[in-house]
Amino acid sequence: LPPLDLDLWSVSAEPEPRSLSLGGHVGFDSLPDQLVSKSVTQGFSFNILCVGETGIGKSTLMNTLFNTTFETEEASHHEASVRLRPQTYDLQESNVQLKLTIVDAVGFGDQINKDESYRPIVDYIDAQFESYLQEELKIRRSLFDYHDTRIHVCLYFITPTGHSLKSLDLVTMKKLDSKVNIIPIIAKADTISKSELHKFKIKIMGELVSNGVQIYQFPTDDEAVAEINAVMNAHLPFAVVGSTEEVKVGNKLVRARQYPWGVVQVENENHCDFVKLREMLIRVNMEDLREQTHSRHYELYRRCKLEEMGFQDSDGDSQPFSLQETYEAKRKEFLSELQRKEEEMRQLFVNKVKETELELKEKERELHEKFEHLKRVHQEEKRRVEEKRRELEEETSAFTRRKAAVEALQSQALHATSQQPLRKDKDKKK
Ligand code: GTP
Ligand code: MG
Repeated sequence: LPPLDLDLWSVSAEPEPRSLSLGGHVGFDSLPDQLVSKSVTQGFSFNILCVGETGIGKSTLMNTLFNTTFETEEASHHEASVRLRPQTYDLQESNVQLKLTIVDAVGFGDQINKDESYRPIVDYIDAQFESYLQEELKIRRSLFDYHDTRIHVCLYFITPTGHSLKSLDLVTMKKLDSKVNIIPIIAKADTISKSELHKFKIKIMGELVSNGVQIYQFPTDDEAVAEINAVMNAHLPFAVVGSTEEVKVGNKLVRARQYPWGVVQVENENHCDFVKLREMLIRVNMEDLREQTHSRHYELYRRCKLEEMGFQDSDGDSQPFSLQETYEAKRKEFLSELQRKEEEMRQLFVNKVKETELELKEKERELHEKFEHLKRVHQEEKRRVEEKRRELEEETSAFTRRKAAVEALQSQALHATSQQPLRKDKDKKK
């Protein structure tokens, strides 16, 4: 190896900034507070996508999670395809404003052919990314008061069969995992026994891993929440129970589902993982979900979209990225593509005309042949009629001749008979 030119190296590298100590209080330690204050004034938005079959308990869980009653209507089982229904609400807790959007995938799993069930969901998520990108690309952007509709989390409701995931679940989650943070949950977990639930959870996680489905992992890089998040990651998928009913337990009213054999308390950690879900989704990781959506999923969408439009970052030694050049290059590409298409169309037209011409010629030839044939038939017919006429004429003249001969004979005979009595009279006189 040649020796490194250290002098050159030190010239090109940026100098390390020096650390200095302050003589007294300056005040920029209030920056985090300024940030908090600004965010609080601005308000927050959070968008949840609920995917799960009709009647699995999506609306009930949302009502239970936010301790309110969102207006929801039951979905019918007869939707021709999956339809996304967003509903936005303004919520307030203390002085924090939350614009919450709940998007329901109505009719999911109800079609006989489920091959395309994931598509409307993917399209919806992409459409939200696209409108954010369009806002970003505007000359006069107003991202500050832009209503961000990008989906921050997808709650995937798994049917509590105790068996395994359905292929529809695996396919849908696989299609969504690069676009949204997926938190899988086992719905109506009160319908599955404790030992079965344990095995079911292990099975689901195994299937997700073996099919390469990336679900959202609660972040463990922030010390403050690393421990709890690590513990919670091990509890996935959460088995939840929802209820809007309140039941008296001891002397307290709690949300629960009452059965002839007992009461399932929604907020009792021995009964289900509802509290864990609420803790993770709302109280600990809501901001991380928002951030992951922006920095991971939206970033990926944006990158692919911009590359598709012809933009690319420069690598170290090439020219820096120029918007003008990219635009020119893309325009040229577009124009040549247009020219190619035009040429293709023209060729197509010429070929079509040639084809039609040939067809017409063929038709003309056929008509001509038909005409010739008819002409021949006609001549033949004419010849036959002529022959017949000649024969008839001959017959007529023979007939006339025979008639004349017969008439002559007849008159001769008549003459002879008129002479005979005269002779007899003469003979008598003698
Ligand atoms: P659609 O919006 O029509 O697709 O239904 P959904 O998924 O919103 O279900 P919804 O919340 O309307 O609940 C359907 C039925 O399931 C209701 O009768 C609920 O009471 C019941 N249900 C909801 N959550 C649970 C649960 O955790 N356990 C049990 N056993 N039943 C539940
Ligand atoms: Mg519903």
